[in-house]
Amino acid sequence: MVLASARRTFDFVVAANRLPVDRVVDDDGTTRWQASPGGLVTAMDSVMQGRRAAWVGWAGVPDEDVRPFDRDGVRLHPVVLTAEEIQDYYEGFSNETLWPLYHDVIVPPRYRRRWWAAYREVNARFAECVAQVAARGAVVWIHDYQLQLVPSMLRELRPDLRIGWFNHIPFPPVELFGQLPWRDSVLRGLLGADFLGFQRRNDAANFARACQQLLGAHTSGDVVSWVGDEDEPGSGERRVRMAAVPISIDFTTVDELARTPGVRRRAQEIRASLGNPRTVLLGIDRLDYTKGIRHRLRAISEMFADGDIATPEVTLLQVATPSRERVSAYRELRSQVDGQVGRINGDHSTIGASAVHYLHHSYPKEEMAALFLAADVLLVTPLRDGMNLVAKEYVASRWDGGGALVLSEFTGAAHELTQAFQCNPHDIVGLKQTIVAAMSEDAASRRKRMLGMRRRVRTHDVHAWARRYLAALEAAPDKPDRG
Ligand code: G6P
Repeated sequence: MVLASARRTFDFVVAANRLPVDRVVDDDGTTRWQASPGGLVTAMDSVMQGRRAAWVGWAGVPDEDVRPFDRDGVRLHPVVLTAEEIQDYYEGFSNETLWPLYHDVIVPPRYRRRWWAAYREVNARFAECVAQVAARGAVVWIHDYQLQLVPSMLRELRPDLRIGWFNHIPFPPVELFGQLPWRDSVLRGLLGADFLGFQRRNDAANFARACQQLLGAHTSGDVVSWVGDEDEPGSGERRVRMAAVPISIDFTTVDELARTPGVRRRAQEIRASLGNPRTVLLGIDRLDYTKGIRHRLRAISEMFADGDIATPEVTLLQVATPSRERVSAYRELRSQVDGQVGRINGDHSTIGASAVHYLHHSYPKEEMAALFLAADVLLVTPLRDGMNLVAKEYVASRWDGGGALVLSEFTGAAHELTQAFQCNPHDIVGLKQTIVAAMSEDAASRRKRMLGMRRRVRTHDVHAWARRYLAALEAAPDKPDRG
């Protein structure tokens, strides 16, 4: 890490809620930097290398006023959030209002004026920070639902910039989005961008419909035209292009990692520690109510009860990465999942053979690759998910052509991984049948499916995603020549 002067400006600026590293405070009070959660880091890596690039984001802890510093050739600019702002902007508006609203109101969103005020304030701080570090005519790529007001706030400060925004999560239908008391301001905030990227075509269409119905904007093809109110940021006539640009993973890196002798050995070790069952079912998720973990456990519990599966031949290994633990819906989910797992194990485990192995931890990527290789069936059953990169990582890890994927149709990934065993996680009977089908398909057909999915992820990897996004941003509001 190199401390550098705060005055340098950059041709390419990323703004995301989190920096690619979190400031971690250990029990003894010492602090260090650690890679932050989420796949954005790898995604951005490939486009930042070789450019004069900066990243503006939060360091993950309250009141941490750290000077900008360089890491892996990228200048990191921490945005300071107070403990109160973390509660109101991050836990509150981002994760108790927008997150559930944008994920089909699986839990009821809470609308609090105080949270909205903090959201506006923190978005303004991000916009100011970007405005200071961006060189004249720079390209700015803003990420996700936490920063939806930044595009128009930034345009107001720096009309010379080319501004893009990408939504990593779904964009809801106007019938749900319309609940938001500040819906017009959010749409206006986004319309400050030149290009808006979404995971699925439906997300872009939902956004376009919201602009038409709520702002009276005109849409033609994938361009929204709109004249803002004079007293609002982003006023004047604007033409903004939107398109689906589904995010992906670094296929080659994951594939290569999964081929290393260490990972292969570890995969065997994992199976041996589980008692070498005939079938290892695997779930790997952030512990989030959108991921359908309770529905999955319900199906598994019934399968044990009905005799479709039994220990020691079959076991479920469920990894749940701790997430947003100060938000009450997440704490509640954790106690529900703890209870479900306890009950399944009480009813169906035998001495030396657990029905469910439940791990509430996060693991390094080597261990994840080994888990993927050790699994016979990966269960990805979200009730709603913008993409789901775990499904793509699993596919990239299976260089051996083995393994089956059960995939919820409510994920962005389902639109690309059409050879997966697709399911509706709300339909417990259907879910059980799909898991049985995935477990019992013959090796040749399984392999054919897996190789088809691997081809898709290999040709549509994160590098292709970033290239496509940036070409669209460059050409907006017109379509790029290709793509
Ligand atoms: C999702 C969001 C990301 C977020 C990540 C982890 O993938 O789209 O923006 O960073 O979850 O959540 P957290 O709240 O810990 O940043």
